[in-house]
Amino acid sequence: MLHFLLPLLFAANARAFYLPGAAPHNFLRGDQVPLFVNALTPMLSGSDDAKLKSLINYDYYNSKFNFCPPKGGPPQKQPESLGSILFGDRIFNSPYDIKMLENNGTCQTLCTQRDVTAADAKFINDRIREDYALNWLIDGLPAAEMKLDTRNGDLFFDMGFNLGNDDGPLSELPALNNHYEIVLRYHEPVPGNYRVVGVLVWPSSIGGPQDGTPTCEPDKNNPLLLREDQTHTIRYTYRVTWNVSDTPWATRWDNYLKIFDPRIHWFSLVNSLVIVVFLCVMVSMILLRSVSRDITRYNAIDLSEDVQEDWGWKLVHGEVFRTPSNPMILSVMVGNGAQLCSMVGVTLVFALLGFLSPSNRGSLATVMMICWTFFGGIGGYLSSRVYASLGGTQRKKNVFMTATILPTVIFSVIFLLNLFLLGAGSSGAVPFGTMLLIVLLWFGISAPLSAVGAYFGSKHGAIQHPVRVNQIPRQIPPAPKYLRPWAAALLSGILPFGAAFVELYFVLSSLFASRAYYAFGFLALTAGIVGLTTATVSILFTYFCLCAEEYRWHWRAFLTGGGSAFWLLAYGLFFWASRLSLHSMSSAILYLGYLFLLVMLDFLITGTIGFLASYWAVRRLYSAIRID
Ligand SMILES: *[C@@H]1O[C@H](CO)[C@@H](O)[C@H](O)[C@H]1NC(C)=O
Ligand SMILES: *[C@@H]1O[C@H](CO)[C@@H](O)[C@H](O)[C@H]1NC(C)=O
Repeated sequence: MLHFLLPLLFAANARAFYLPGAAPHNFLRGDQVPLFVNALTPMLSGSDDAKLKSLINYDYYNSKFNFCPPKGGPPQKQPESLGSILFGDRIFNSPYDIKMLENNGTCQTLCTQRDVTAADAKFINDRIREDYALNWLIDGLPAAEMKLDTRNGDLFFDMGFNLGNDDGPLSELPALNNHYEIVLRYHEPVPGNYRVVGVLVWPSSIGGPQDGTPTCEPDKNNPLLLREDQTHTIRYTYRVTWNVSDTPWATRWDNYLKIFDPRIHWFSLVNSLVIVVFLCVMVSMILLRSVSRDITRYNAIDLSEDVQEDWGWKLVHGEVFRTPSNPMILSVMVGNGAQLCSMVGVTLVFALLGFLSPSNRGSLATVMMICWTFFGGIGGYLSSRVYASLGGTQRKKNVFMTATILPTVIFSVIFLLNLFLLGAGSSGAVPFGTMLLIVLLWFGISAPLSAVGAYFGSKHGAIQHPVRVNQIPRQIPPAPKYLRPWAAALLSGILPFGAAFVELYFVLSSLFASRAYYAFGFLALTAGIVGLTTATVSILFTYFCLCAEEYRWHWRAFLTGGGSAFWLLAYGLFFWASRLSLHSMSSAILYLGYLFLLVMLDFLITGTIGFLASYWAVRRLYSAIRID
């Protein structure tokens, strides 16, 4: 069973990995093997209690790093997908001269950078202290350091390698790695054709005089230290070793996608399942027993006696479908939530089918963007139908707000964060062209689709309600404390959050610490469980509300559904305290900004699930009783 489930849950097995059409690249002996450089990212160092020290990416060719520029012209940007750009990839060509199977083990000089100023030396040292890593790509494979998993002794590839070293005696003045030992593993499927199946880099620091013939032999006692009060000369050297491998091309990613501790994912799953079982038992006890008892009693009394004595949720039958306050905002939120919800659902299906592995760079974000754009129709349709059902009349305003409010909010937040990134000299800022493309997707496709959806929504009209609304609103008796909106939201949020928080750790780590995430099977299961839990808990709370003769359930249902978002916010702050130690103001603002977006989207999605589930349940409930 485990052998069957593991590949499914991690979606990490071999062949399912590549988008149809992604073919292996065959090299002949002597063919140029291009090496591309990506932005420098802060890395979590190996130890368990390591903290991430920054969130800002830097361009490889940021002049302060003084890396060797390509020969003959300025660095050329490589084409990338939308998602890849959004997630911070900035890929350029490089001066490394690598030819298939040639120069095996030859020490080569890349270039010698003279006049590295004291200010640049300080900049480089600061980045080394923040554990920045270089990210190279050869034939689509990231350069990695080979590491040993101390738990089980397995070797695995950790993507990226250190800019420098500030451990132990080097904590005073860190050493810059200016020599790269590159081991390229190749596979020979047919004689004469070679494929790259592994890229390993061991960086090291070679001090001493930076002129003359290089030896490429690092001397542990003489690293390259950049004192921050003088100019320096840095010579960059590299040595390529070709090593034959029997890993076929199709499984070349397996070494990279190491599952650190599968037991944690299983623990998370069991944890979620326990919560679901607990909920199911509770719901079946409360809802099924008491509701069916209520219904028989309500209907029986009518038959046997002339005096009708109502109690509980039947009392408010003339109120439950009364228009809530701000039906416009509620319906816009539900519409946008439904759009996001469908986006997440379809993206997870794609991920499960294995299309979104790290080997297709940025595919996850690209698929999400495209789904969101095309599901504008769903948002418009639901928003306008819910709006009509809630008794709203300003249809045009509803369409307009559904199509514009959320994108505007997201866009403004990202724009503000961009300003901070630009101020910090980071490469992570979304380029102008990409911004334009997103605006185009939004105005050109998403907004019109939203309008089309709204047209069909208003054509189908309001949802019919089983009971009529009384003319005069009832008095609402004081409700118990736990049914107050915010208390209810926090209480009900615990269960969905509890079902997800272990998996959440991995998601946050991959979002912020650029760890690859590929346990999509677990993620999909967890998402399903969160959806189910959210729906059930909201229905329960709505039922309690109605029993307490509190009929203003619409907003409460949304709030109780979205309750887990408040816990997500708290968890995000906890993650900051425990896993990050951000030195710069911009990193902190960046983290808070992204966390805010994440929480907001989560609130919309889970709130919508809660609202729609409660709506369904209330309609079912009141269709079951007879009212004269
Ligand atoms: C390159 O050199 C290494 C060790 O020096 C050796 O193990 C490897 O087989 C060589 N590769 C080729 C293609 O000659
Ligand atoms: C090259 O391959 C051999 C055999 O697969 C292995 O023992 C050796 O460690 C490899 N060398 C490097 C530098 O990876």
